[in-house]
Amino acid sequence: MWNDHVMTNAAFDLAAIRAQFPFLDVAVHGRPVAYLDNGASTQKPRAVIARMAEFAAHEYANVHRGIHELSERATAAYEAARTRAAAFLGAPEPESIVFTRGTTEAINLVVNSWGEANVRSGDTILLTEMEHHSNLVPWLELARRKGARVAYVPVTEGGAALDLEAAHRLLAERPRIFAFAHVSNTLGVVSPARELCAEARKHGVVTLLDGAQGAGHLPVDVSDLGCDFYACSGHKMCGPTGIGLLYGRAEILKAMAPWQCGGEMVERVTYDGATFRKPPTRFEAGTPPIIEAAGLHAAMDFLDAAGLAGLAEHCETLGGRAAAALREIEGVRVFGPEGRRAGLVTFHAADVHAHDLAFFANERGVALRAGHHCAQPLMRKLGASSSCRMSFYLYNTEEELDRGVAAVREAIAFFTRS
Ligand SMILES: Cc1ncc(COP(=O)(O)O)c(C=O)c1O
Repeated sequence: MWNDHVMTNAAFDLAAIRAQFPFLDVAVHGRPVAYLDNGASTQKPRAVIARMAEFAAHEYANVHRGIHELSERATAAYEAARTRAAAFLGAPEPESIVFTRGTTEAINLVVNSWGEANVRSGDTILLTEMEHHSNLVPWLELARRKGARVAYVPVTEGGAALDLEAAHRLLAERPRIFAFAHVSNTLGVVSPARELCAEARKHGVVTLLDGAQGAGHLPVDVSDLGCDFYACSGHKMCGPTGIGLLYGRAEILKAMAPWQCGGEMVERVTYDGATFRKPPTRFEAGTPPIIEAAGLHAAMDFLDAAGLAGLAEHCETLGGRAAAALREIEGVRVFGPEGRRAGLVTFHAADVHAHDLAFFANERGVALRAGHHCAQPLMRKLGASSSCRMSFYLYNTEEELDRGVAAVREAIAFFTRS
């Protein structure tokens, strides 16, 4: 059971995991930092930091175009990271993994290559109301250029879930694509992705999963999910910034035109034109994130060793407990599901601005996020122009959660005293 973690999650060794994270030595305002902003980015374990330093020190060169030994070694490491990413995401072959700068760039790649060629005037692009701006604005811009329409699967009252009846009805209308968050960064809703992808496939609808809060947070198997595209970011799963992954089904990637052009991705170039290499290289113009690929490789090894099922259970337990504790505070409204949720909680305090809450918590060494969480339309729908978010990852403890909740309680008492 997700909420019985203390009893059932014995294989997940929190103390051993925490020993791997040097950031836990950091003090903020005289207190050990309680880092509860993992939805924005996650901290790095020693293995990732050490691998990147070692690679930069002794193994570095540019990839693919060198005949010399160091370039060959760097290329082997870069391609090994791709093979590792394919295994990590359950992709059938390494060629279906494109390295990008992150989730945002992965989605923009799909929009500007697949979308440019396949979305026409009068078509519908189906999203959900809980999308991050990264999986919303690129589609809005494409729709504007093409004269297409954007439709949304609604969220139910208070952002508790996706309205699945509406999703099935909207999919039956055969949109060109259904692009949706695997896990919502604002609500903590975990989409029934497998069921939705199966329904989309039944109607011939292409699917893209925004996995920024999915990969590295729960076991992901794109073959089992049955999606056409899956996008995620290295920095949200213990890896470095500047690198992300796009999984694309091989037949779809093969039919897609490049979206950025330059070195590496070409076969033959004349003064009159160029021919392009096969995927994934076709989509990796210019020097790629090489040191970052080595770091991401180490991050995936680390996460698999820690155990993704146990990690997910741990984070979901913290998310559930934080939601329950925050609901008990007078004047606090918690968004998202009542029951099972991902390891994050967004909430709104009636009489205290979210920035005041986050500022107050920071003074106590607690890192929270305040704002609209890159989901402005959703926050408007929920009736909260700004809110706070507590988001957990594998190294967080109940004591840190309690410090976060106590800071919120004290802040509300402080700002509302008469
Ligand atoms: C659900 C979701 N999608 C997309 C993104 C964008 O990720 P990145 O900034 O790494 O491209 C985020 C980042 O917070 C996110 O939470």
